[in-house]
Amino acid sequence: MKREQWNSQFGFLLAAIGSAIGLGNIWRFSYLAYSNGGGAFLIPYIVALLTAGISLLILEFAIGHERIGSAPLAFAKINGNWEWLGWWSVIFVMFGIELYYSVVISWCVNFFFFSFDLAWGSDPNAFFFNEFLKLNTNPLEVGEIRTPILLALILVWFANWIVVYRGVKKGIELANKIFMPLLFVLMAILVFWSLTLEGAVLGVKAYLTPDFSKLTDPKVWIDAYSQIFFTLSLGFGIMIAYASYLPAKANITKMAVLTAVINSGFSIFAGFAVFATLGFMAQSQNLPIDEVVTKSIGLAFVAYPKAVSLMPGGNFFGVIFFLSLIIAGLSSSISIIEAFTSAVIDKFGYKRKPLVSVICVAGFLGSIIFTTQAGLIWLDIVDHFLTHYGLISVGIAECILVGWFFRTERLRRHLNKISSIKLGPWWDFLIRFFVPIVLSIILLGDLYQEIKTPYEGYSWISLILIGRDWIMLTLIAAFMISLRSWRTGQKETVSRIEDQS
Ligand code: ALA
Repeated sequence: MKREQWNSQFGFLLAAIGSAIGLGNIWRFSYLAYSNGGGAFLIPYIVALLTAGISLLILEFAIGHERIGSAPLAFAKINGNWEWLGWWSVIFVMFGIELYYSVVISWCVNFFFFSFDLAWGSDPNAFFFNEFLKLNTNPLEVGEIRTPILLALILVWFANWIVVYRGVKKGIELANKIFMPLLFVLMAILVFWSLTLEGAVLGVKAYLTPDFSKLTDPKVWIDAYSQIFFTLSLGFGIMIAYASYLPAKANITKMAVLTAVINSGFSIFAGFAVFATLGFMAQSQNLPIDEVVTKSIGLAFVAYPKAVSLMPGGNFFGVIFFLSLIIAGLSSSISIIEAFTSAVIDKFGYKRKPLVSVICVAGFLGSIIFTTQAGLIWLDIVDHFLTHYGLISVGIAECILVGWFFRTERLRRHLNKISSIKLGPWWDFLIRFFVPIVLSIILLGDLYQEIKTPYEGYSWISLILIGRDWIMLTLIAAFMISLRSWRTGQKETVSRIEDQS
């Protein structure tokens, strides 16, 4: 079976940017920036981008390209004992992150329609939590499935299915060629529109005024590093699979740098729209800005609707805002499904079309738990465990595997042969020492916090049953799949550089 390929390197670049830019860029980044010292947050954020983000993105592109495989295949080709790592990442991302990610896109679909007639009324907070989610605060009592969310979820999975079903070129590449330019135009409209609102300056000031005292707080650095991880889709197995569809000659290092810079540029740019709007809201309600900034999820589904209700022509603003979230979300969501699909095709040789159909039906069914009345709580717990422990652990393991079992010089030589940007030995140093050490500190710091105080005050039993067990079950599944044999000839296919160990 011939490996699928992108039509062009530009198509690959757009798809990688599409995966990186997601729900996390628009509201998560803005909220983190604000709560972690405004403009000063850009310092740890950029340090994290330069030290860990770009180096790891180069690493993931390089592994996929040089070993010509999705995460499990590429890892297995490096060292047969590490196949489980690839499976673990694509499994917990597909049957964990993707399940709630698609539900958040479904909320956006609902809010897109609500925007037309400002259906949230005068109290968007009560509307979101009590009417829309009908939130149950006990995670072990899931209550009913929320029909409006379920209906939108069907649409979202249909969109996911149709794109991934059509394959790399005709599905993912084509979708991103439409999605990305559209997203940039919509975001530009939002930024310029929001900057003309009364009070916008107030918000922009809050966004950009640095509070340098925050830089001594370790939490700010932890937030910056984990945000870079999530936003660049690192540890998801996506970038490895995407790079495996490139031709032998590809300007990998340059594309990694471009993906990272455009993704962060987009976040910083989108931050202006979010904060100008909050400034407007603060001014029109005569409140200080920190009283209108709420927790991350609330920012998109509570604060924004409130602002939209207050501004002239706001419904149109709301429509554009939620449409941007839907597009940004879908282009990341399809990349997650592709990372898993690609892994299963590599291992078992199934045909793409029936396989994608089965995966999407399973994904849809799995998502349903997040459409129940306890959905938000489940989302919060699963997200916390998978992003804080899952992604970061995969990042550390990748560095150890490549840095210590394979040798980074070999990958670097491969990259330097085909890329216009040349990497020096500093990259080896970052991958072998710096990144794994920094990530380990973050992981241990997080674990310490976890043990000291249960996350968000949830009961231990729900944290263990939902959070820890999600990690355990996906790990067990990963080991079980690793025990199955590869379809013939698959593992033996050559890498792009000859073995020189
Ligand atoms: N990178 C994607 C995001 O930021 C997953 O949402």
